[in-house]
Amino acid sequence: MGNPLIVTIDGPAGVGKSTMAKRLARLLSIPYLDTGAMFRSVAWKLGKGAWEWPEARLEEALADFEYALSGVGEDSVLSLNGTPIGDEIRTEEVGMWASNVATLPVIRTFLKHAQQALGAKYSLVAEGRDMGTVIFPDAPHKFFLDASVDERARRRFLQLREMDKPADLGALKEQIAKRDDQDRNRAVAPLKAASDAAVIDTTDMDRDQVLAALKEAVA
Ligand code: C5P
Repeated sequence: MGNPLIVTIDGPAGVGKSTMAKRLARLLSIPYLDTGAMFRSVAWKLGKGAWEWPEARLEEALADFEYALSGVGEDSVLSLNGTPIGDEIRTEEVGMWASNVATLPVIRTFLKHAQQALGAKYSLVAEGRDMGTVIFPDAPHKFFLDASVDERARRRFLQLREMDKPADLGALKEQIAKRDDQDRNRAVAPLKAASDAAVIDTTDMDRDQVLAALKEAVA
């Protein structure tokens, strides 16, 4: 077996990174890694306000966190300490908590090691905010997906409704804009396209068109 193949997909909230990462990973018969789920699970486990804890307390808590990945494509399962991470992390509120803990170097360093360890072991479609810039800078295929904030709010609205979770389009638009602003402007690993990433504006594209563009680039 050769070196693992890494494909990175970065972009703002609600752009459809997970959907595309799952489908591309299926086509390539490899797992996909949802790194947003790692930040969300840290935020969820530590609880509201953990971003104000002293660094030593955060470090101590993180020492008990162990991530594992299994499966392929949409059947990829990310587990934390042996338990698959579930839909409880999929609210906009937990998204904001995740964005808050994601500003902290101690959390980012910890997850960086966990993400790179998975990438050393498996071929991956890795999606997040800093996959192409910081975590896998040498990946041979890098994408940055973008879309207008209205379109991203609409996509997230439909996704939440599919999960039978409450959703308000106007509130979602505000929350997404606020979270993006924090993600783009933080000091460590801000959301941005790698200089060698293919940037795709998906505002007027449907899922099949985006997948076709990714597939063509990776082929
Ligand atoms: O992608 P998702 O919406 O699940 O990510 C939740 C939050 O986790 C993001 O708003 C961002 O602050 C943080 N995140 C990050 N770096 C990543 C993935 C997610 O900072 N690679």
